[in-house]
Order: sequence, then structure tokens, then C-alpha cells
Amino acid sequence: TDFDLIIRNADIATAADRYSADIGIRDGRIVAIAQTLSASAAEVIDACGRLVTPGGVDGHVHLDQPTSDGSVFSDDFFTGTRSAACGGTTTVIPFATQQRGHSLQDAVDDYHQRAKGKAVIDYAFHLIVSDTSPKLIQDELPRLIAEGYTSVKIYMTYDDMKLGDRQIIEVLATARKHGAMTMVHAENSDCIGWLTEQLLAAGLSAPGYHSQSRPMVVEREATHRAIALSELLDTPILIVHVSGKEAIEQIHWARGRGLPIFAETCPQYLLLSAEDLGPQNDDGAYGMRCICSPPPRDKGNQEVVWTGLANGLFTIVSSDHAPFNYGGEQGKKIAGPTAPFNLVPNGIPGVETRLPLLMSEGVLTGRIDLQRFVALTSTNPAKLYGLYPQKGTIAVGSDADLVIWEMYTPGQERQLKAEMLHSACDYTPYEGRSLRCWPAHTLSRGRTVWHDGVFTAQAGEGQFLPCLRPREPVAGSPLAKWL
Ligand code: URP
Ligand code: ZN
Ligand code: ZN
Ligand code: ZN
Repeated sequence: TDFDLIIRNADIATAADRYSADIGIRDGRIVAIAQTLSASAAEVIDACGRLVTPGGVDGHVHLDQPTSDGSVFSDDFFTGTRSAACGGTTTVIPFATQQRGHSLQDAVDDYHQRAKGKAVIDYAFHLIVSDTSPKLIQDELPRLIAEGYTSVKIYMTYDDMKLGDRQIIEVLATARKHGAMTMVHAENSDCIGWLTEQLLAAGLSAPGYHSQSRPMVVEREATHRAIALSELLDTPILIVHVSGKEAIEQIHWARGRGLPIFAETCPQYLLLSAEDLGPQNDDGAYGMRCICSPPPRDKGNQEVVWTGLANGLFTIVSSDHAPFNYGGEQGKKIAGPTAPFNLVPNGIPGVETRLPLLMSEGVLTGRIDLQRFVALTSTNPAKLYGLYPQKGTIAVGSDADLVIWEMYTPGQERQLKAEMLHSACDYTPYEGRSLRCWPAHTLSRGRTVWHDGVFTAQAGEGQFLPCLRPREPVAGSPLAKWL
């Protein structure tokens, strides 16, 4: 036989094209695409004219990450990647987190241990840098970049991770010199600290006050500062989880200056709002489930984020999957069922719902087109993190990571329920939402991992992906720009 698998009658959409073809797959890769492949294959899947897109690349997920408050992420590499696969995502990039006082290599070694034998789809690692001792930043980080860890996340808030401006400068200098991508969590830590104190002193501690403790100005200021540091160091950054208008305005302004500022948003900033956190809920703790940072804003901000997807301001849409159980005592309620908002672990699940929700609420409502959808959820993250064209497109030579979509006929929409999902997290913040579609079939390197409602992969079948440098290292000093 010529192929291991042929997918016939596919309605293929990439970030650039749309056409009908057969896809021939051998050894986990796409080896032929033609209107009709006459060759033989061990297995044939008839797509019957259904839409086929590249498997999703989720450039921002948290799996089995160490925490500072004793809370435990619901998903490890098995349940997290299973959930991804069942929602059409075939590559995830979680974070190897440096603990202060430890090396980056420790973080990488520990994280490989956690992933080993568990992942069902392919994965790469970002690094979280929380300690910028010269030895780590000037010797160790460049070596790790060369070994395939080519993206770094830095935090401007959270006590156990935040970096000051000088430390951010050091990281950006290394990123520039060695061709890495820097992801920035942009919120002003001192503003949050002061606001939190004021709220708690006034007895305002319910989950809903999480939003008031991190208003838009806090994100806008930090976004602007991150842009300024990026300009100073003459190197690109990606602002992660952008939540609304004022941060978008900063990014728009930076682009107008010709600065290479990339931006990410997440379904929660398109679909959730501050009301989902309370404070007026029959069960005061309920809003804990939607506590994430930055917090979801309001309908007006959602619209501005949608517009930013349609007009190209955003480069990628990621889930920021950060699952903590609502039940039990190791998740959202680690500090008790009525704990003040500042002691509730931050984050919401979403790796499985990212593609179906964006297809339903974005493409099928006409807010974004299909090519934009593929770019935002697959092609662009693959390019941004040095995985393209192995990942992120449907092309000869690319991995056979594919999603065959089932579109529900109007009137036959389904309701999203937590029990349909394959995460170990016990809730979804999108409970009850109407779905117009879902992946019928997910293939990872030509293996069926999800088909007609059944998860079919084995733990350990996913492979680690070393990332290429997203851009050329830049020799010489960034100072040159200012002389
Ligand atoms: O609240 C969130 N987003 N938690 C996950 C960690 C992060 O900052 O992305
Ligand atoms: Zn973050
Ligand atoms: Zn995150
Ligand atoms: Zn099928």
C-alpha cells in the first residue's frame, strides 16, 4: 500500500486556503494532497465533504505545575492532553516553572518527569523565569534556548514569580541575543497589592471583588511598560491573556510605532464577564470558578476583543487552561469555602473548549472568518514558537494533525456540560452554552485520538517537541538603536 491512511473528500481550510481534496498520510506525516488520490491505503476515512482544519496548537496551558499555596492543578499530562485531543487540539505548550533559588535546568528536568509516559498528543515547553541571577540568564538560558526551549514567560505580578523592570530587561536582552520569544503577564503588582488591602479592610472579600482588585488600569499600565521595555531592548514580546479595550489600545499604539508587539487573548475574554464572578450570588463561593487573572471584564470589552480578532490585532488565541477543582480542598477552596478572593487559586479550565467555542461563537456567527480562525488557533502559535511547518498547517511534509468537524444543523445545537469534557477538572465556566459544532475526529500524527465521542489514544503516545528559534539571534548591543 502507498499510504497508511487516506482521508477522502476533505473540505480543507488552512490559514490561507480552502479547497476539496484527499489527504495521503504515511508514517504520521502528510505525504500527498490531491483532488483524488488513486493510490491504495491501509485505512480510509471518508470525510464526506466535512470541514478539515489543522489540529489546534494551544500555546498557553498549565498542566501539573507546582504551586506556592499547596493547591493542585486538576490536570496532569494525561488528563490535560486527553482533554485537548477531544477538543481538536493536537499540540500543547505548558510551562516548565523555575522555582526561585533553583536552576532552569531543574525546572526542565522536573517537568519532563511529569510529562513522561503521560501525554497523548505532542507537547513543547515554555520556560517560566522567576530568578534572574546572571549565571542563569547569561549561561543557562542561552543553552536551553539552543536545546529547543525557545520561549520564556515572565510575570509582572504574583509574589513568587514577579520580576522588576531591571530583571525584565535582563531577560529581554538574552531573548534578543539568542532568538527567543518572551511572553509577558502584564499586571501592575503594587496596584493589585494596595487595592486588595483596601478591599479586604473594607470587608469586601467575596470572589466578585477579585475583579475590583485588578481593574483595567492595572493591566493597561503594565502593558504599556512591557511595550516600553521591549522597545528599549529592541526585541519582540507577546502580551499574553489580553482582556480588554485599554490594553488593546496600548498594543495598537505600539504597532503604529512599528514595534513588534504580539498579542494573545483567550475565550474567557470573549465570553465571560465580571458578573460571572459575583459578587451577588446565592452561593457566595460560586464565583470562585471564574476567578482568573486578568479578570473577565464586561460586554463592551468583549466586543473590542472580538474586533481585535477580526482586524488582526491579535496573533493567537490560547486557552490559558489553568484548571483547579471547585469541589474538594485542593483546588479553588484550598483556603476554605469562604476564603477571601486573594487566596483563591487563579485560573479556569478551557483546553478542550477553545476550538469548538471559537468556531461556534466566532466563525459560525460570522465574527471571524475560517482562515483567521485557523491562523489564530494553529498556524500563528506554531510560527510564534518555532514549530511551523511541522505543526500549524495542512501541507505535504507537515505532521498529520487534523480535525474533521461535525457541524450541527440549526436547531440541533448542543449544550455544553462539564460531564462531556475529558479534563479532570470538575466544572466548565461555559456550562450550558450552546454549541454549533464539535470535532468529530481528531488525528495526531495520523493516529485517531478522538472519534465520534470516543477517546482512543494511549498515555505516552505524544512526543516532546524541541522548538526552533522563532527568529534569528541579533548580534550587537540594543544600545546601538539609541546612540
Ligand atoms: O489566572 C490565571 N490566568 N492563571 C494562570 C496563570 C497565568 O497567569 O497565566
Ligand atoms: Zn499569566
Ligand atoms: Zn496562564
Ligand atoms: Zn469519523
